[in-house]
Amino acid sequence: MNQRIKNLLLKAIILCIAFPIYAQQGGMWIPSLLKGMNESEMQSLGMKMSIQDIYDVNNSSMKDAVPHFNGGCTSEVISPQGLLLTNHHCGYSQIQSHSSIEHDYLTDGFWAESLNDELPNENLTVTFIVRIEDVTNKVLEGVLNTDNEREKQSKITKNISKTVASFPKESWQENKIKAFFEGNQYILFVTETFKDIRLVGAPPASIGKFGSDTDNWVWPRHTGDFSLFRIYADKDNKPAPYSKNNVPYKPKYFFPISLDGISEDDFTMVFGYPGQTQEYLPSYAVEQIINDLNPAKIAIRNAALKVTDEFMRNDQTIKIQYASKYASIANYWKKWIGESLGLTKTNAVQTKKDFEKDFIKRTKQSSKSSDYATLLPEFEQLYKQIAPYSLSRDYFTEVAMRNVELLVVAYRLYGLERSYTTEQSFSEKKENFINAQERFYKNYNKNVDEKVFETTVSLYSQKAPQQFLPEELKNVDVSSLTELIYNQSKLTDYESLKKLLEGNSKEVLKKLNRDKGYIFAKGLIENYIQNILPEYEKLNTQIEALQRTYMKAQLDLYPDARIFPDANSTLRVTYGKVDGYSPKDAVYYEPLTYLDGVIEKYVPGDYEFDVPQKLIDLYNAKDYGQYADNDKLPVNFIATNHTTGGNSGSPAIDAYGNLIGLNFDRVWEGTMSDIYYDPSICRNIMVDIRYVLFIIDKFANAKHLIDEMKLVHPKSEISTSK
Ligand code: ARG
Ligand code: GLU
Repeated sequence: MNQRIKNLLLKAIILCIAFPIYAQQGGMWIPSLLKGMNESEMQSLGMKMSIQDIYDVNNSSMKDAVPHFNGGCTSEVISPQGLLLTNHHCGYSQIQSHSSIEHDYLTDGFWAESLNDELPNENLTVTFIVRIEDVTNKVLEGVLNTDNEREKQSKITKNISKTVASFPKESWQENKIKAFFEGNQYILFVTETFKDIRLVGAPPASIGKFGSDTDNWVWPRHTGDFSLFRIYADKDNKPAPYSKNNVPYKPKYFFPISLDGISEDDFTMVFGYPGQTQEYLPSYAVEQIINDLNPAKIAIRNAALKVTDEFMRNDQTIKIQYASKYASIANYWKKWIGESLGLTKTNAVQTKKDFEKDFIKRTKQSSKSSDYATLLPEFEQLYKQIAPYSLSRDYFTEVAMRNVELLVVAYRLYGLERSYTTEQSFSEKKENFINAQERFYKNYNKNVDEKVFETTVSLYSQKAPQQFLPEELKNVDVSSLTELIYNQSKLTDYESLKKLLEGNSKEVLKKLNRDKGYIFAKGLIENYIQNILPEYEKLNTQIEALQRTYMKAQLDLYPDARIFPDANSTLRVTYGKVDGYSPKDAVYYEPLTYLDGVIEKYVPGDYEFDVPQKLIDLYNAKDYGQYADNDKLPVNFIATNHTTGGNSGSPAIDAYGNLIGLNFDRVWEGTMSDIYYDPSICRNIMVDIRYVLFIIDKFANAKHLIDEMKLVHPKSEISTSK
């Protein structure tokens, strides 16, 4: 072996030992900064397009086809007429809002036959990224010569406003600045927001939500989680509020769609808006999540879900009233369970501890040792101090702000009481409140809520840190308390609540403060605001400042490491390969599922696993048209892309830049990737684009939509051109 190779090998070995948490795939990268390390890594994984195809300031590129969907999900433009693809669960509330008993689009699906049939949606927007610019120097100007954290933050806020106001943009565009690497880097985004977005198509829930909560976060999966919208613009192709004179938007770029599908080991890239990750926490924080915080939140939701499920199974009206709320509570409940299991199974804490040992060693060798040496002991101390506050905070937010509906209403009423300034404004706010609650009470059942109150409040009083327990929960008989509140409170019924709120502010507040439910809630809220929140925020600000230094230290001390900024709802690129995984001993999961699996899971009439007759007929006739893969119809697939909440609806892209799928979930064993990404079990789940096309074409007979798209055969084009 020659010396050069020996040196290289040695370097590789040292790298693997020194960067245990970085010597892996994963990562959510800033699209304007892919040149260099990412580019070569992507090429080594099989990417054939260039970085400019993904992001280019001067020419149209893929980023011009990937708007943020209503601030939460991702979507992509798939035709020259502004046709937009996202998940069914991302368009869910729009589909629901157009549904009625006569037109139940959730159950039956919806397909606009022409532009005139497309349905406008109030308050639905999509936002494109026009330009990405590093403005760190401008934002941190004059900030580094102060040690006072408050002064620092106020200077930063001022600099941000100044930069936002002065950075060049067109009149219809907007400038936004976001912090990266916990505030070690600041990036400005010029954005364009469209406000006339119409519903074009959605499959029935038995396809779009097939498997529902049972299959949620689970592989093997068989869900057609997609819906179609269209962006409308004014006659100059600019964003405009809804108008019937608006016309379909002509995009700068739209995705061609590959009909060639994917196979194991193929390069894939996911482009979207991941919401939040915490990849650089110290081991103390991760231990706290595993040992204290996740178990507490899981236990509360366990109790609430169990109670609700029982009511839903026995009462059709309650089932409809609570379906969406149940799904939303169950979504993160299930995710936290998977997350804790995954963190434990992959020894995340030990890996972090090993890294921290190495980190300490490096700080000692570095000239900056004085800045960094005390970081970890300080973290340890602060996490110890914050522990009871964090836990109390989680109990309060889960019980009072999330699961017990009476307490959620009371919390809003408390806001109304506290916001009193003048009689006039009180009366306006009160009216708004009353109107806003109408929908809430339509889906409210007092018996369900009473049972949820009893079980979750019991947990709160027994398990939350006793030193911060509100008086109301000390030595309390929760059953009789529950009975008293639900017998007497006016908050359990819309009509009685409206009556309670009749009169001027003085009368209303007097009545309110005699209501047993409100009194109880107010006790909890004020205890939280006075005894928990201030200390929590004080410690948390210190932790955030420390985390910023810790991040900077890692960037300084590991200059060659593969460090990406935590997700922050900005546009990111993640890439990997189509790959199966082994969830447990002796079990291996293939990376692709087929329609055969839908039929295997079929339970006639079941609310999660029913299958539309038309789909069964198409299956029996094997009528898959051009969408088949060796006589089978692909449905979902998985790959090693590092995604998180917010990546729902993100385009999955092949080596050449064509659309091959639509991201919608992660696998159960790998949901800890928000905190610790392990390439052996972390996989994202996508709908195969051929399933989407098949449903549109063969199932819904909406061939006119297929005709708008550009379908390509990259694999056969390459092989015939050779
Ligand atoms: N787990 C996916 C995501 O977080 C899908 C959620 C919607 N589906 C459901 N069955 N609740 O958000
Ligand atoms: N379903 C998630 C979403 O709504 C994406 C899955 C994930 O968290 O990775 O964004």
